[in-house]
Amino acid sequence: MKIIPTPEKAVYSSKLVSEKERQYLIDTSLLKEEYTVKIDDEGKVLISYYDEAGRFYAEQTLKQIKNEKNLYPVCKIEDSPHFSYRGFMLDCARHIIPIDEIKKIIDAMALLKFNRFHWHLTDDQGWRFESEKFPILNTVSAVREYSDFGKTYDGSPYGRVYTKAEMREIVEYCKERFIEVIPEFDIPGHTSALLAAFPELSCSGLKVKVKTHQGIFKDVICPAKEDSLKTICEIFDEICEVFPSEYVHIGGDEAPSRHWESCPDCQQHMKELGLENYKEYQNYFMNGVIEHLSKKGKACIVWNDAAAGKNLSKDAIVQYWKENDKATFEFANGGGRLILSPFTYYYTDYGYDITPLNRTYSFTPEIKGVNSDSISGLEVPIWTEYIDNDETLETMLFPRAIAVAETAWSKNKKSYAEFCDKVNSFTPFLEELGIETAPQSEWTKSRAQMPIGWLRFVNKNYSLDYIKSAIK
Ligand code: ACM
Ligand code: ZN
Repeated sequence: MKIIPTPEKAVYSSKLVSEKERQYLIDTSLLKEEYTVKIDDEGKVLISYYDEAGRFYAEQTLKQIKNEKNLYPVCKIEDSPHFSYRGFMLDCARHIIPIDEIKKIIDAMALLKFNRFHWHLTDDQGWRFESEKFPILNTVSAVREYSDFGKTYDGSPYGRVYTKAEMREIVEYCKERFIEVIPEFDIPGHTSALLAAFPELSCSGLKVKVKTHQGIFKDVICPAKEDSLKTICEIFDEICEVFPSEYVHIGGDEAPSRHWESCPDCQQHMKELGLENYKEYQNYFMNGVIEHLSKKGKACIVWNDAAAGKNLSKDAIVQYWKENDKATFEFANGGGRLILSPFTYYYTDYGYDITPLNRTYSFTPEIKGVNSDSISGLEVPIWTEYIDNDETLETMLFPRAIAVAETAWSKNKKSYAEFCDKVNSFTPFLEELGIETAPQSEWTKSRAQMPIGWLRFVNKNYSLDYIKSAIK
């Protein structure tokens, strides 16, 4: 039996039976998301579960053990997840992923027992959340003049929002698959698209354009402006009306302090607050949003850049993408919670020659010196500066997302060779969904290959002229 993610316990015989009867039983001795499947030699299929998610996962497992003649092995499976948070992230700000494509990805992720879809909806290069309260976001913030991600170039204006109806459709689609949708509105950095509509929320008040290229930009929200926190909280309120999730992602990554340093309002505000450190100034603002959202019963996730400010609210959950980050470890050991998305293992927007499948698979969800109870789960992100079509999205994600699913669910990881064998058995399910998988010849690489991978990445994405103009 080749089941992925690997179940906790599975015993089976070579005897195959056709299903005669299926019985479902609620078993209160099981925990959330747990299930057991028993198939006896008479063809009786008994599924025990505690909650509906467990029942759903049992059915996903059954799909994988049925052969082409619709026969099942006589077996007993007992299964439960390693982590309660098993996420995937799609960046729909840089390139819009069509709703039907998002649904295909969700279908695949549901088969793999993922339970969180982190939807990155806002960034410097575009705003994707339809707002009725602030319609200027749907026009000015949603559209960039052109797209110049190096060789991923398009000279025409690009962008639109997802309508509320579309976003609600995705929430519902996910709910049916026991996946919670976590919207991300990234603050206070990565906000050029927002500030294009609301320049008065920036330090200078000067007009900002929706960015046309990748990078880390100095246009950030000015925490000192009277309307900043109020407007941001109002936008989050509207986001929360569409997304009934337990979690909301509020970003916090890559927010340069350059403008704050020369802004008289910020300088005055910091003095009043008794703050000298810009990381703490960032968190003072983010904590305001966290507090606002916590009154609505929401828990906020932030990227681990925000852990650099020691005053980050302990109510925040930190998403660890920057590896070996001491501030994150201190946050965790001080009682904070983490979600792990280690950049050099889990960022699937880089090619297999930079992050091969064997590296993604090899990640052990432990951090030396960090209390393991602080780790709530794992998430596989994909950023889309260089991904403007469904086929690339799919081959970058699969099979690496399968390796993340395996680590997130299974306490029983075996060997990479066995894993690859299982991926090959799983691929027909992806094919059935119309999803393309990277060919096996690309999956496995040595670490020594990585510098060549980076060179290829640069060559594939940028022209020499582009690099020269970026360096200038
Ligand atoms: C990130 O990759 N900037 C979270
Ligand atoms: Zn300012």
